[in-house]
Amino acid sequence: MTKRVAILISGGGSNMLALLDSMTGDHPARPCLVASNDPAAAGLARAAERGVPTAAVDHRPFKGDRQAFEAALMEPLLAAKPDILCLAGFMRVLTEGFVSQWQGRMLNIHPSLLPKYKGLNTHARALEAGDAQHGCTVHEVTAALDDGPILGQARLDIQNDDTPETLAARVLKLEHQLYPAVLRRFAAGDRSPVFLPEP
Ligand code: GRF
Repeated sequence: MTKRVAILISGGGSNMLALLDSMTGDHPARPCLVASNDPAAAGLARAAERGVPTAAVDHRPFKGDRQAFEAALMEPLLAAKPDILCLAGFMRVLTEGFVSQWQGRMLNIHPSLLPKYKGLNTHARALEAGDAQHGCTVHEVTAALDDGPILGQARLDIQNDDTPETLAARVLKLEHQLYPAVLRRFAAGDRSPVFLPEP
């Protein structure tokens, strides 16, 4: 049976678009909702242009009350009846209560080779450490930040002249390949990890 996928974004949503564009033909899933914590997120309009239902739940009026924000976010999410929830540049930390409701059905993409560099500024941190390689990871979401079983990784070689910006741009291209590849496999019921070499 075709799986229903909801995607949470906070910004431009380039990963979200890569996921939407992948869910055609014999893909085992279809998008049912794109939702954001920022009503001005550019990705919402892009999803709507593609005919995908959208929802915005602004986190700011909740003034740090994460549970109340998540309860409000749950309404459009539950109405869309997703089988799988993909975080794609969603910049709010989720509570254990929210995560546990989606356990085993929620994926995230993070711009580092986890378990290295959880959290922010991953590209600068990889450069500062003098790493030879960097990349991105898709993982199942568990209560701990940027943790959970790894479902896929894509890596590239760091170049001598890389800056955090050039590295971010190259890793983002990898993200656009990795996330759709992992979602396709995951939606088909296969949790074995996808590994991509440098293209
Ligand atoms: C990506 O780098 C993602 O890894 C990070 O936020 C960025 C989202 O970009 N968490 P986009 O909104 O998918 O274009």
